[in-house]
Amino acid sequence: MTPSVLADSHGRILRDLRVSVTDRCNFRCLYCLPETEAAQNFYRGHWAKLPNSTPILQQWVPKTSIFSFEEIERVIRVAAGFGIQKIRLTGGEPLLRHGLEELVARIAKIPDIEDLAMTTNGFLFAEKAQALREAGLQRVSFSLDSLDRDNFKKITGRDGLAEVLAGIRLARELGFAPVKVNAVVIREINDHELEALAEFARAQDLSFRFIEFMPLDSARAWQKEMVVSGREILERLRAKFDLQLVASDNPHSTSKRWKFSDGRGEIGIIAPVSEPFCGHCNRIRMTADGKIRTCLFSVTEHDLRGLLRGGKSDADLGEWLRAVVWQKEARHHIGEPEFVAPPRSMSCIGG
Ligand code: GTP
Ligand code: 5AD
Ligand code: SF4
Repeated sequence: MTPSVLADSHGRILRDLRVSVTDRCNFRCLYCLPETEAAQNFYRGHWAKLPNSTPILQQWVPKTSIFSFEEIERVIRVAAGFGIQKIRLTGGEPLLRHGLEELVARIAKIPDIEDLAMTTNGFLFAEKAQALREAGLQRVSFSLDSLDRDNFKKITGRDGLAEVLAGIRLARELGFAPVKVNAVVIREINDHELEALAEFARAQDLSFRFIEFMPLDSARAWQKEMVVSGREILERLRAKFDLQLVASDNPHSTSKRWKFSDGRGEIGIIAPVSEPFCGHCNRIRMTADGKIRTCLFSVTEHDLRGLLRGGKSDADLGEWLRAVVWQKEARHHIGEPEFVAPPRSMSCIGG
């Protein structure tokens, strides 16, 4: 008998489960939780028009609704039985979750999970790095949107550049591989730093990815004029660096990769707005309060917590998951007239 997999109605097989472990964050990034004065000044003043839709009233998930490590482990075991192979821990900021290394150790022991990664803002990484590595975390992706201390603070709301740089260094020393670093590019916020960030990738021999700004901020302040397209980013970088396209070894990858001619470091372009990659998407998401999201831009969430806490068996949960995944959206509708932003911001969804 063919083993059961999680398939959707568009012919995609889901292999990647992204698990948000908390919706809380110790940063206030302009593209996610733009609650700082600097963020508000940018959105209000700079573009000379107010946000075009109602902000999300940021409501933190009550502690009792947050999935315990036991609950998360159970869901991952069930999902692994249906072909999920990759787990990425996200947040909010996952390192705010107390004892995260214990969860990592539990997941690392699940036989069918081949890849265990985490996306972090890096501020608390140094404190936890060794324990996470020993627990079995394999890969880490950092967010780093600026190399300039003041601009870093303006973007993230936190004077934390030194901590994040130290975190990235440590990740490499401890053998996390590959270490990826992500920058969300926003016009007239950090687009003047493109070349410096790429140079950083080369000098540090890192995989550095530039991401198009998506409408996932809690202020609903995103406007398409703020997006620097992947094409524009690449043109800018090719004018300065000799870049060679790297053939993709993963059809589900979010990025197109380019290496520097001297062989040190590489850059990636993640262009979900101008060049969507939905056709090859193999990702589903679970929020910290146990809701399944079949797309980053889903407007409905599926309540796994109610079922799990209501006493359903693993077999029931698995069948439910199969039925939910079948309904995965074909694609996002960013930029189209009928686009509806998801009801929760990126800090609740996980990157
Ligand atoms: P690996 O291949 O596991 O290394 O991960 P990845 O390439 O998906 O990278 P990562 O998880 O670091 O995601 C990078 C960024 O891509 C995220 O922060 C999002 O901005 C964007 N992204 C990731 N997954 C999706 C997705 O499913 N849809 C869209 N539209 N954007 C995504
Ligand atoms: N657009 C694109 N990427 C985003 N991220 C968060 N918000 C957005 C957005 N509005 C990415 C950042 C962050 C990760 C968790 O998700 O890279 O670090
Ligand atoms: Fe997948 Fe949705 Fe992202 Fe498209 S927008 S790549 S379908 S999660």
